[in-house]
Amino acid sequence: MARILITSALPYINGIKHLGNLVGSMLPADVYARFQRQRGNDVLYICATDEHGTPAELAARDARQTVQQYCAEQYEIQAGAGEAFGLSFDHFGRSSNPPNHRLTQHFAAVLEDRGLIEERVDKQIYSIDDQRFLPDRYVEGICPHCEYEKARGDQCDNCGRLIDPIELKEPYSKISGSRNVEVRETRHLYLLQAQMQDRIARWVESKTEWPQLTKSIAKKWLKEGLRDRSITRDLVWGIPVAKDGAKRPGFENKVFYVWFDAPIEYIGATEEWALANNENWERWWRTDKGAADVKYVQVMGKDNVAFHTVSFPATILGSEEPWKTVDALKSLNWLTWYGGKFSTSENRGIFMDQALEILPPDYWRWHLMANAPESDDASFTLEHFASVVNKDLADVLGNFVNRITRFCNARFGDAVPEAGDYGEAEQNLITELDKRMADYAGYLEEMEFRKAFAELRAIWVAGNEYLQIAAPWTSIKTDEARAAASVRCALNLIVLFAALSRPVIPFTADKMFAIFGLDPVEASRWPTRAASALSRFKGGEAFTLPKVLFAKIEDEQVDEWRKRFGAE
Ligand code: MF3
Ligand code: ZN
Repeated sequence: MARILITSALPYINGIKHLGNLVGSMLPADVYARFQRQRGNDVLYICATDEHGTPAELAARDARQTVQQYCAEQYEIQAGAGEAFGLSFDHFGRSSNPPNHRLTQHFAAVLEDRGLIEERVDKQIYSIDDQRFLPDRYVEGICPHCEYEKARGDQCDNCGRLIDPIELKEPYSKISGSRNVEVRETRHLYLLQAQMQDRIARWVESKTEWPQLTKSIAKKWLKEGLRDRSITRDLVWGIPVAKDGAKRPGFENKVFYVWFDAPIEYIGATEEWALANNENWERWWRTDKGAADVKYVQVMGKDNVAFHTVSFPATILGSEEPWKTVDALKSLNWLTWYGGKFSTSENRGIFMDQALEILPPDYWRWHLMANAPESDDASFTLEHFASVVNKDLADVLGNFVNRITRFCNARFGDAVPEAGDYGEAEQNLITELDKRMADYAGYLEEMEFRKAFAELRAIWVAGNEYLQIAAPWTSIKTDEARAAASVRCALNLIVLFAALSRPVIPFTADKMFAIFGLDPVEASRWPTRAASALSRFKGGEAFTLPKVLFAKIEDEQVDEWRKRFGAE
């Protein structure tokens, strides 16, 4: 039994996530976690909300709430949406919780002991009317690179370049709109990453199993040369710059930068899990305390890769403490909405809560994973979604289950028929399934999701083709035992399909097990041999007729959703 720690990039607290965010980290991590649990491995899947930084403060202002209230409320919303989507976190934490405070302050102290942190005087925009500094998104102005008029202090949305706020032309406060601003000096803590260039480069080199996209992003950053970066901000909301309960002199009104504390919350959330479940978190994170044999898998969108391959490792490796570092890192490209951006403010795209208002989670889970943006960006369109759901789920999987249970019920009654032995058709099916099942599991293991689900679809298709060839509705006229054997084989296939499909469509899989009154945990233990899977039911096992598993999506629905979600 392997021990596998899985984390998916922490969703920002400000607002419910859209389908692109979902397929970019949490959903693939969930599929992988479910697969590994079914294989009998000891899995710990951890996620949390990323609550600090200027986006949270600004969103709270817009909602006229304190940032504490805002985050507490949004946390519940995101946790609820995750649960409704079947995201099987072992723990969904909050980066603002006490363990992350302790750990973040711990890392800062250790890094300083190692000579990797230095106080430096920095220039920042100060708003005289607001009486405060304006870090990151608190200031906007004209982009120094492309002249875009609403560039944010940390990044320009038009040209994508990172910006130092003092480079903005004609800056103004995002709080009051005031242009009465000036550049003032302020002290900050800098993490001396430049010194760590070689260490991190060697560590990246040692990660031979990282996929191409991951490695090339890490190398690009290393090639540009690591720069020392400021890890504190002039903000109130965040983790105080303190040690042993005492604030650092001169830093009383400062907090750690959100990108410093957020990845540390992977550890913090594990500690939250341990506290809540009377468990030990160190055996997942400290190689001196049992984590040496853990496989650590991270899943994230491509914009997060640099932070996980360079910045967070700088924190961890710089501490020189025996922390577990990432082994496999899966990064995904963007899912676009009709080729453009998902946007709440412009009402473009579908968000997690809206998705579940119109269809159950498995419809989305299947489409998103079978078409995951892996080798390239992928465009979500409602037309494509409807055609995938109708073909794969309704016509292939749903129809198979419906057809054979109904036929059996009409001709043999409500138990698996006993007569007849498996013959050549079943042997051929078993041969094909064994090959495909091995390939499917291999792709899941490698987190090659598109390939994996193309294989799963082919497995469902093989079942349909078998039924076409065996044609019990014809053979029953001349050879009832033969028809009975075919029906028994097909009913066994339902259980096999359910087990294989459960990582991606867990709600449907459990409905399929329920047809036969099977316990989903036992029945979903990962099947490796088709022959033994198809001999589970020997005959006589009772079943109940299921409702239709998937409703087809009609053109009228697509039209209505196009209007509602801004498709063009
Ligand atoms: N909130 C970030 C984003 O959505 C991801 C943070 S991942 C972490 O881009 F590692 F920093 F936690
Ligand atoms: Zn720009």
